[in-house]
Amino acid sequence: MNNVARTCLAAALFGLAVQPAVAEGDADAGRRKAETCLGCHASPTAENVYPMYRVPKVGGQHAAYLISALKAYRDGLRPHPTMHANAASLSDQDIEDIAAFFAASE
Ligand code: HEC
Repeated sequence: MNNVARTCLAAALFGLAVQPAVAEGDADAGRRKAETCLGCHASPTAENVYPMYRVPKVGGQHAAYLISALKAYRDGLRPHPTMHANAASLSDQDIEDIAAFFAASE
């Protein structure tokens, strides 16, 4: 093996090694898909246009938790009309991308 091949192999192996445990989601795609979510979930005071309820902080939560929460809302396993409405049209890929975005944000 010549040096170029060795360097490429090392780079490829390094690339594999630094993948996070949940690697399916694309955080950049998730940022675009999460725009509607931010109206509620990006509020630093955890309040929104309906001040009678507070909004949980999703930024920085584990991707695996966000994925299971969103699927549960979407599939009606976790009852909440507002979040069901927000999750109802999301595909598994959308959910994984959005989870990657929120997991990587504050
Ligand atoms: C109209 C305001 C609003 C919008 C828009 C909204 N959410 Fe929510 N979200 C809430 C509220 C309120 C809750 C708390 C629901 C509950 O008690 O189960 C919640 C809960 C959640 C949770 C569970 C958090 C936890 O700690 O268990 C996740 C994950 C979540 N939302 C993600 C999203 C995503 C992703 C979007 C966009 C697709 C979104 N939300 C859009 C208001 C909103």
